[in-house]
Amino acid sequence: MMLPTFVFGLLAAVTTVNCQWFQGSTGNYTEEPRWCGRVYYTNHSAFDPGGQTPQPTSVCGQPLFYVQFKPRYSLYLDTDTQGEFVVKTELSQYSYKLAQNNSQKMWPCECTNKFVFSIKRASDGTTLVDNASVTADTAMSVFSFDLSRLGNTSLTPINVTLTGEPEGHNLTWTASSMLYYLPDKKNGSVTKIDNLNGGMLFKNSASNQTFQPLLAYGFYAKWETFLANHSEPEIQQYADMGLNAMTPMIGRNDGAWALDYMNKINLTFMFDLRDQITFEYQNLTYVAEKVKAVKDAEALFAYWSMDEPDGWQYPFNTTTLAADVIRGLDPYHPVADVLNCHDYYFHEYSAGADIIMEDVYPIGINSSFSHWGTKVNATLGDCGCDTCRGDVRDVPDRLDDLAKYERWLGLWPKTKFHCPQSFSDGGINDPVAPGYWARDPSPEEEYAMTLLALNHGAQSMISWAYPTTAGANQTITNILAPAHGRLARVIATSPVVDFLVGNDRPHPISFTEQAGAVQVDAAYWMGGQQALVCVVNGGNVDIHMPVSLSVPNATGIASTLWISGHNSTLFNGTTYGNGTTLPQWNFNSGELIAVNGLPGLSTSLFILSLN
Ligand SMILES: *[C@@H]1O[C@H](CO)[C@@H](O)[C@H](O)[C@H]1NC(C)=O
Ligand SMILES: *[C@@H]1O[C@H](CO)[C@@H](O)[C@H](O)[C@H]1NC(C)=O
Ligand SMILES: *[C@@H]1O[C@H](CO)[C@@H](O)[C@H](O)[C@H]1NC(C)=O
Ligand SMILES: *[C@@H]1O[C@H](CO)[C@@H](O)[C@H](O)[C@H]1NC(C)=O
Ligand SMILES: *[C@@H]1O[C@H](CO)[C@@H](O)[C@H](O)[C@H]1NC(C)=O
Ligand SMILES: *[C@@H]1O[C@H](CO)[C@@H](O)[C@H](O)[C@H]1NC(C)=O
Ligand SMILES: *[C@@H]1O[C@H](CO)[C@@H](O)[C@H](O)[C@H]1NC(C)=O
Ligand SMILES: *[C@@H]1O[C@H](CO)[C@@H](O)[C@H](O)[C@H]1NC(C)=O
Ligand SMILES: *[C@@H]1O[C@H](CO)[C@@H](O)[C@H](O)[C@H]1NC(C)=O
Ligand SMILES: *[C@@H]1O[C@H](CO)[C@@H](O)[C@H](O)[C@H]1NC(C)=O
Ligand SMILES: *[C@@H]1O[C@H](CO)[C@@H](O)[C@H](O)[C@H]1NC(C)=O
Ligand SMILES: *[C@@H]1O[C@H](CO)[C@@H](O)[C@H](O)[C@H]1NC(C)=O
Repeated sequence: MMLPTFVFGLLAAVTTVNCQWFQGSTGNYTEEPRWCGRVYYTNHSAFDPGGQTPQPTSVCGQPLFYVQFKPRYSLYLDTDTQGEFVVKTELSQYSYKLAQNNSQKMWPCECTNKFVFSIKRASDGTTLVDNASVTADTAMSVFSFDLSRLGNTSLTPINVTLTGEPEGHNLTWTASSMLYYLPDKKNGSVTKIDNLNGGMLFKNSASNQTFQPLLAYGFYAKWETFLANHSEPEIQQYADMGLNAMTPMIGRNDGAWALDYMNKINLTFMFDLRDQITFEYQNLTYVAEKVKAVKDAEALFAYWSMDEPDGWQYPFNTTTLAADVIRGLDPYHPVADVLNCHDYYFHEYSAGADIIMEDVYPIGINSSFSHWGTKVNATLGDCGCDTCRGDVRDVPDRLDDLAKYERWLGLWPKTKFHCPQSFSDGGINDPVAPGYWARDPSPEEEYAMTLLALNHGAQSMISWAYPTTAGANQTITNILAPAHGRLARVIATSPVVDFLVGNDRPHPISFTEQAGAVQVDAAYWMGGQQALVCVVNGGNVDIHMPVSLSVPNATGIASTLWISGHNSTLFNGTTYGNGTTLPQWNFNSGELIAVNGLPGLSTSLFILSLN
């Protein structure tokens, strides 16, 4: 078979991948070269790739009752005094797929009533939450319990079960979940996932063993053009830009010095477990070897186990098998997988992950024709960004869809990261090396995509790839990495990170009633007597009329944190913006108003005071 040079997604920068054609094993026509299940290379006729997450059947009449629960945090330590469970009750118009498939039958319920329940350890019936109640409509409620009832800590998870019934109904609901209760760890770091608000809490020696919200913001770091230089000053230079995280792509090279340096300067890292020799399948021996070596590192915050398993159509069990090995050796850190496809066996490919990363790279693509010479549509071809239209709004759309699949399946929402596109490869017209992405994003597009991702629930950013020299254009090295660093200094530090991570989820603000503002995207996060607000004009076109938005109980602007690439130093006693280059904002009659409109791709972040 003719072997194409692979230039897919994240693998774009893995050089010398002179591997054999990897034959994906899921979907239709597995013998053909496919990406996200669609044939892209041969003259094979178009076909349904399969794997779409089905919209559940909606029910007539009374809604169906559904309950899920999780420990508030993915893990508890024996130094924690109190545990919590989050109980999510829902009256759904849908009959969820997972509920149909297992014993959790959903039943029709008028449910004006309370849902009364208890939570116990499955193995011996130890009661953790007794006879508690919650109203049976859509909500997450938190219930505390005494961790000491669990007795001794263990490195294996504890099965906990919830049993309850809506008051006045003779119907019993049961659900189960897993809970880690671990001995505290002083040699190295610990990362908790917050199952209520999403996001990570991280502790290590540099945090004085105190958990702090972590919004990891950095790059996948290349070996050949960066880490192979064996230069601590180059890593320092990276950190000095304001980036607080890195995913070093060390592979089988000797990168221990780099991890040591990151531990020393407290630059958090996600450890790359892809074996670049046999990267098509996960080499579990390799995974175990690497996890054992790195699990006690001070700056380790998560593992990256699988890169685009859905794009490559790997066997479904690859993600779960790798995650099982990792958790068996290190239950103190979460496992992250990158999903590249829009709608290809989402449930199967996300199953092993604690954190789902999406790498939507929409800038500079040709969304309807590929460099393989095929058309690109829902049943044919690959254009580098699965079913994208080719602008910044593809990022929030993808995050919304992944969250929608979780709802449709009846799953608990997983923590999401966005992988910003900071590269290009020359595009389909490049005569030397035709690829997918004709140009790099501009800094304005980077800011827009990153902040749109925040508005739609992403809680960390890992960009592809550092150094930011792209295939076709080696001239942009010092634009995109410092641009991300500038934004990282604002969103990955206090006070913004305290709103974004472990405290609240974004509340979208609607613009449907403002003609001309339909592409404006805004959200707010509550935090005590203040709210964070993030506004993005997701369109390329300037809006020349005032755009206003309101946040419940807001009384004024407490601080302006960021306007289109400028941080708060711009707003100290000066007026800024004229509506053409930078938006100018006022607060009037309870509304935040961009008085002269919003330039295309403009981005604004504020803290508002509340009454
Ligand atoms: C592709 O697979 C799906 C199920 O995954 C199936 O419904 C569909 O008919 C298949 N299409 C073809 C052309 O094989
Ligand atoms: C947890 O316990 C429940 C009740 O005994 C059981 O149905 C479920 O399969 C268990 N889950 C796991 C992952 O062991
Ligand atoms: C509840 O259901 C069980 C089993 O079907 C039945 O034995 C019991 O009498 C019912 N109780 C009430 C109050 O309806
Ligand atoms: C070390 O990094 C973590 C995660 O970014 C942060 O919470 C902590 O405050 C840092 N410590 C110091 C001393 O900067
Ligand atoms: C670190 O934590 C300990 C105990 O929690 C506390 O006594 C000490 O003051 C803290 N040190 C710093 C620098 O915050
Ligand atoms: C898997 O990894 C182990 C450990 O690094 C290595 O010895 C082995 O050769 C690898 N297997 C394959 C098939 O590459
Ligand atoms: C994983 O799935 C593949 C393909 O379906 C199968 O051949 C293999 O046996 C599975 N591995 C395990 C450990 O279940
Ligand atoms: C995609 O394009 C191919 C080739 O023109 C065509 O056969 C197929 O019907 C198209 N699919 C859709 C969903 O439009
Ligand atoms: C390469 O970078 C230069 C300088 O930023 C820019 O003007 C040019 O458009 C870029 N070319 C491509 C193909 O991205
Ligand atoms: C607004 O303030 C009122 C009164 O303090 C409070 O009840 C309400 O929950 C607040 N609204 C929001 C959305 O926080
Ligand atoms: C704000 O931006 C200026 C450059 O415009 C930079 O020197 C400064 O460090 C930034 N401050 C923060 C807190 O990010
Ligand atoms: C703001 O400007 C005033 C006067 O120019 C100066 O004293 C103060 O330090 C500045 N504050 C910041 C945060 O830059």
